[in-house]
Amino acid sequence: MDNKPFFTVGIVGATGVVGQELLHLLQERNFPIATLRLFASARSAGKVVEWAGRKLTVEEASPGVFADIDVAFFAVDGSTTRALAPDAVKAGCLVIDKSSAYRMDPAVPLVIPEINPEGLRSHHGIIANPNCSTAVTLMALWPLHLKFGLKRFFAATYQSVSGTGADAVDELDTQVQAHVKGTTIPRKVYPYQIAFNAIPQVDSFGTDGYTGEETKMMQESRKIMGLPNLKVSATCVRVPVVRAHSIAVNAEFERPVSVAAARAAIAAFAGAELVDDPARQVYPTPLDFSRKVRCGVGRIRLDTALDNGLALWVSGDNLWKGAALNALQNAELIAREGWLKPKAALART
Ligand SMILES: NC(=O)c1ccc[n+]([C@@H]2O[C@H](COP(=O)([O-])OP(=O)(O)OC[C@H]3O[C@@H](n4cnc5c(N)ncnc54)[C@H](OP(=O)(O)O)[C@@H]3O)[C@@H](O)[C@H]2O)c1
Repeated sequence: MDNKPFFTVGIVGATGVVGQELLHLLQERNFPIATLRLFASARSAGKVVEWAGRKLTVEEASPGVFADIDVAFFAVDGSTTRALAPDAVKAGCLVIDKSSAYRMDPAVPLVIPEINPEGLRSHHGIIANPNCSTAVTLMALWPLHLKFGLKRFFAATYQSVSGTGADAVDELDTQVQAHVKGTTIPRKVYPYQIAFNAIPQVDSFGTDGYTGEETKMMQESRKIMGLPNLKVSATCVRVPVVRAHSIAVNAEFERPVSVAAARAAIAAFAGAELVDDPARQVYPTPLDFSRKVRCGVGRIRLDTALDNGLALWVSGDNLWKGAALNALQNAELIAREGWLKPKAALART
């Protein structure tokens, strides 16, 4: 007899771009769901969403809704997460959070399952997931760190508009259409026109001149890889790409590097796909790495300005590995290992 447990699952932020991808992936990857409940703001309450042949009605997220839920994926902004997650935890619901609310809280594990899965056993009810550009970057750097010992890295990102959410995807689309029609280009989400442009600002500026996104890359990389003294410098740029982030990385290592050994390390890593044949113009692009489980790594070459340095390019789906997929992979591992018991089963014992 199949004793596989089935869970009551909630998505908080089910109407957003990350929430929508979660809905898709939960079905595609066959997560063991007994009941799925969808939550969003009062604006969306009552909306009907088709999922796996069922019609699900979106409910307004509120502190009282978590009593029966085993695991809730949070895909809302940080302040909404902070307002609701403690109640979910009190109700015995495991929170797998996509926001930045708890990422740097020392009591909350920040987990990429290919790198630090041990955090999935040491949580106190909340598991944080990394920022999208950090997650994609580390899919290239982690196997290289294991091979050569990472000392420091520089990153320049090329981030898609879906990283800002559903409104930003609409904004790019509307601006492109206005440009084609020759009408005034509307602007709401970004400080500058994003169509046919590049904006060197992702998130707001800190007093040190770095943006929130750049600081996240530094802090989250250290926490996830367990390298508290790692030196990181990033410039994060928004580009008019709909989906998938790309990052140009220059990394320095403790031990001598070679392109062949770096390629072999990337090819052997579960989170990455080696796409690297410059002679045939083969390298990853965001279009090719949209809706892909792995992140594409290519353009691997010796860095000419660093000792034991490598330069490379990585493209990965910000909505999948950068968000919904990583959260789901964490839940899948927890379910597979039996680290979470459905409340309904516990009530029967
Ligand atoms: N997009 C990415 O690539 C990405 C990557 C990594 C992490 N993240 C993080 O994931 C989270 C979601 O991002 P997103 O890109 O999916 O944003 P989004 O498209 O703007 O969606 C936001 C979601 O939050 C819901 N929401 C807003 N206020 C709420 C409230 N008071 N109560 C309940 N629900 C509320 C919205 O519901 P309504 O439709 O009812 O307004 C919507 O479902 C954010 O923390 C973001 O930083 C995003």
